[in-house]
Amino acid sequence: MQHPRSIHKTSAGVGGQDQRSRFTESPKDRERRELPLRGVMDTIPGLVWSALPDGHGEFCNQRWLDYTGMSLNEIKGWGWASAYYSEDVPNLRARWQIALAGSTSFEAEARMRRADGCYRWFLIQAVPMRDSVGRIIRWYGTNTDIEELKLAQEELQKQTSRLDQLFEQSPEAVAVLSTEDRIVRVNKEFTRMFGYEPGEVLQRQINDLIVPEAEIETSQAYSRVLQHGGRVEVETVRRRKDGTEIDVSLLAISVRTASGEAVVNYAIYRDITGRKRAEERLRESEARFQEMADMAPVLIWMTGTDGLCNYFNKPWLEFRGRTLEQEVGTGWIEGVHPDDVQSCQDGFFPAYHARKPFSMEYRLRRADGEYRWVIESGIPRYSGGGEFAGYIGSNIDITELKQAEAERERLHQLETDLARINRVSMMGELAASLAHEIKQPIAAALMDAKSCLRWLRRDTPDVAGGCEAALRMINDATHAAEVIERVRSLYRRETSDREVLDVNEIIQEMIIVLREKAERNLISIRAALDPGLPPVTADRVQLQQVLMNLMLNAFEAMTDSKGELSVTSKCSEDGQLLVSVSDSGIGLANGEGDRIFDAFFTTKAEGTGMGLSISRKIVESHGGRLWASANRGRGATFHFTLPAAVALSSPAA
Ligand SMILES: Nc1ncnc2c1ncn2[C@@H]1O[C@H](COP(=O)(O)OP(=O)(O)OP(=O)(O)O)[C@@H](O)[C@H]1O
Ligand SMILES: [Mg+2]
Repeated sequence: MQHPRSIHKTSAGVGGQDQRSRFTESPKDRERRELPLRGVMDTIPGLVWSALPDGHGEFCNQRWLDYTGMSLNEIKGWGWASAYYSEDVPNLRARWQIALAGSTSFEAEARMRRADGCYRWFLIQAVPMRDSVGRIIRWYGTNTDIEELKLAQEELQKQTSRLDQLFEQSPEAVAVLSTEDRIVRVNKEFTRMFGYEPGEVLQRQINDLIVPEAEIETSQAYSRVLQHGGRVEVETVRRRKDGTEIDVSLLAISVRTASGEAVVNYAIYRDITGRKRAEERLRESEARFQEMADMAPVLIWMTGTDGLCNYFNKPWLEFRGRTLEQEVGTGWIEGVHPDDVQSCQDGFFPAYHARKPFSMEYRLRRADGEYRWVIESGIPRYSGGGEFAGYIGSNIDITELKQAEAERERLHQLETDLARINRVSMMGELAASLAHEIKQPIAAALMDAKSCLRWLRRDTPDVAGGCEAALRMINDATHAAEVIERVRSLYRRETSDREVLDVNEIIQEMIIVLREKAERNLISIRAALDPGLPPVTADRVQLQQVLMNLMLNAFEAMTDSKGELSVTSKCSEDGQLLVSVSDSGIGLANGEGDRIFDAFFTTKAEGTGMGLSISRKIVESHGGRLWASANRGRGATFHFTLPAAVALSSPAA
């Protein structure tokens, strides 16, 4: 870039010659005349230089030379150019040429090399000096260090461009307005939101462009607020270029100078159409929910995130006979039965803190003052974003249910009590017949004991006779013990205990037990038992109970007349055991049908009506059936089936 010094020097020489030839003054004279001037230039506290009309360097003051580390000779001609950064020189020369050609003042910026090799920015300025006829006789120039200024300018430039970027890329539409509401500048989002290119809006009144007719007045009111230094923050409607309207949130502020004078106004718009629509949808869905909740046949409530109730549906308020205002917060607790308040809190708060569903029962006072049992269930609610939003729950009046449950419980208790009574009365029967049976062996044993004594008290004790009597005594006692054991087996235990049994054996046993009673009532008992009957898996005591119930019923049906009771057992076609208890009694009344199996159904003054109901339950629990049929002649027959024991449960297996 830089010209070789030799060329500069040559051209400086030639240029100097041409110039000089036009002057009458000799170089010596000129030097003499200019010497004091150079002295002055050297004293100036800045970098000063002079050049010849053709642009060749002529003189640089001492400061200039000191700064660059160059000598006066080196700057001559175009030599001065080497004091500048090579990249800046072409521009510098071009400008210098223009100034020379146009004889106008010169100004350029370039980086100048300091003696230590460091470059700094300088502003180089020069003005021409003319003679009396206006010819340029010399150029005088200065170099001013503008490095700091340059840096500051660059920084400012950067900041401005950053602000510009922010302005342009803001997600909100921004319009900069003059104090008269004329648009000075708009950003990209403004163009996107309203459809106007910047060129179409500049210097136009904002009200003419995007404010719908209906909003003009309020918009003008906003302008007045801004004039008085206020700010405006509203949600309003604006109009796009295509005429459609848009919901916006508007923030308008005025920017002022330090002295308080309004300079510009900023209007910042955010598109809230989406939010408005979502709000509308939410309102709609809330209205729908409200409608549904009010129609629902349950009491519905909701809490906020704080656990306090903030909503009750119409059925709740009607049930309580109170207003929403009375019930919200903790107001509803006034309706909880004082004894249930604590358990109510214990049911809700732990679940609430753990954000878990909960369910509890308590008494809630109805509008008429009656406490009603309710079952309350609640679950946590979450917003669309997954944030906890409180609880929602429902209450159902379960008073009737509770009462029915209590009634069922009472009946069940009664049934158990009566079943026990049934057993006990069965025991009574047993005791009566067994007392008779036991009496015999005991009386015999007594007789034998007496004979034994007699044999042994003889002068010559008859030991053989005594032994015989004692053996008989053992037999009698064993027999009595067996009878007692049978009784014991009847009330041994309450729980079901299944074993593999021979049903015929149990039938015979019961016949023995009831024989005495039958004799007393002139009833004959006949048994027709199938010897090939398979065993059953059953509870012995329960089977005895069924048989005894059926046989006692048969007796009771025949109290007024002599009769016959027959018990048969056989194997039915489907491989089950079939036991039938038949009597020649009064028979079944027409139309009673299955009712005789209902608990508490009785036609007897002393009856509990539990016998058949208990018996059917026992048979069914063994997988069998129990039913009644009328006899062709007199009386009724009760049948029950039992499944034969599976091979696995037989002892042989
Ligand atoms: N063999 C029978 N002949 C005619 N009626 C019968 C016979 N067995 C039962 N019944 C009728 O069925 C009713 C119900 O019998 P169930 O054994 O359940 O109760 P109950 O005999 O009346 O009283 P409980 O057995 O508790 O003393 C009897 O009251 C009776 O009317
Ligand atoms: Mg009975």
